[in-house]
Amino acid sequence: MPSSQRGPGSGTPVAFRIGAVSRELTRAAVAAVQAPSVLNTQPWHWRIAGDAALLYADRRRRLAALDPSGRMLVVSCGAALHHACVTLAAEGAGFTVEPFPEGEGDLLAVIRYRGPAAPSVRAQRLHSAIPVRSSDRRPFAARPVPEPALERMRRAAQRVGAHLQLTWSRDLTDIATAAGQATAAMLSDPACRSELAAWVRRPGEGDDGVPLDTVAPPGARPVPLRDFTGTGGGPSITSEVDVGDREARYGVVVTDGDGPNDWLTAGVALSAVMLTATAEHLATSAMSDLVEREVSRRTLRHMLGGVGYPAIGLRIGVPAAGPAPPRAPRRPAIEIVEVVADPVPADGSPSGGAAADA
Ligand SMILES: Cc1cc2nc3c(=O)[nH]c(=O)nc-3n(C[C@H](O)[C@H](O)[C@H](O)COP(=O)(O)O)c2cc1C
Repeated sequence: MPSSQRGPGSGTPVAFRIGAVSRELTRAAVAAVQAPSVLNTQPWHWRIAGDAALLYADRRRRLAALDPSGRMLVVSCGAALHHACVTLAAEGAGFTVEPFPEGEGDLLAVIRYRGPAAPSVRAQRLHSAIPVRSSDRRPFAARPVPEPALERMRRAAQRVGAHLQLTWSRDLTDIATAAGQATAAMLSDPACRSELAAWVRRPGEGDDGVPLDTVAPPGARPVPLRDFTGTGGGPSITSEVDVGDREARYGVVVTDGDGPNDWLTAGVALSAVMLTATAEHLATSAMSDLVEREVSRRTLRHMLGGVGYPAIGLRIGVPAAGPAPPRAPRRPAIEIVEVVADPVPADGSPSGGAAADA
């Protein structure tokens, strides 16, 4: 439905409308708000213009102490990009993705609509997992993760140009060492400690950050999770469950290079792996603490035989019995997704691809 506004300086009313293609791209960007992000910073901004959806990094949301290079910010945006692409593919939209069309700036990717396509069954499966997935930091059930599901997760990463390296029990010492190094580095850096504290929220407080009731309880686990409270303690959502992650599997998303384009690919792969796991009724939680500091990242790289660049760690398991963990909040889509309406020419004829579809 066209809406009327005054043309700039002309005094003449000009009609604007949101074309069907813009609406489809907007739906994809809104779905991407549910993507995981480091400390739930949601560091992205979408601009929908005609047949294109432009994904920008919102650098105001970068973690200056924990993520000075912006690597985790770009990984987070990659996860949002994948959520948007899955939504389009599930709905039968054909599209292309151009990463970093302007070089290494804030414009991370452009999705361009290319016309209708057969809806992808695989994408539909992943799309259904979007509203169900959430970070599960509770100790997992003492049941092994089925190998075929892990193989599907591995292939999901491969399909988007990254690798999911699954670790074995012999690697546990290295992963645990990396986690210990990460915790020590974080605790010894006052800037990191206060940044972490600034992004941890009381339940129901704010629309970003990590709510305390989603944070893992302390306790004996083979690989400790990020200590969000920085105290070695913290509120528990699982005080009755104590299986200590004995059957957890750990994975590392690995990329061939270590530049912004590779970080974006890593985020796409992280989302692909997590949504595949959710569709398999498995639970996951990301572990970027393992790679944020050089010391722990080196340990992982050594564990992987020096092949590729560890982009982010992942914990995978069968969810514990009981209610799912509370969901982390999201910022309202209106703050994140900007839609540029198409002007309607004076004769009312369709203008451009988007309006033509209205
Ligand atoms: C790049 C990235 C890094 C993350 N690092 C960690 C981490 O180190 N520890 C952790 O428990 N969760 C981590 N997460 C999970 C986020 O905290 C989580 O996605 C966010 O709080 C939103 O919650 P949700 O996943 O339940 O939607 C990370 C997620 C992303 C995308």
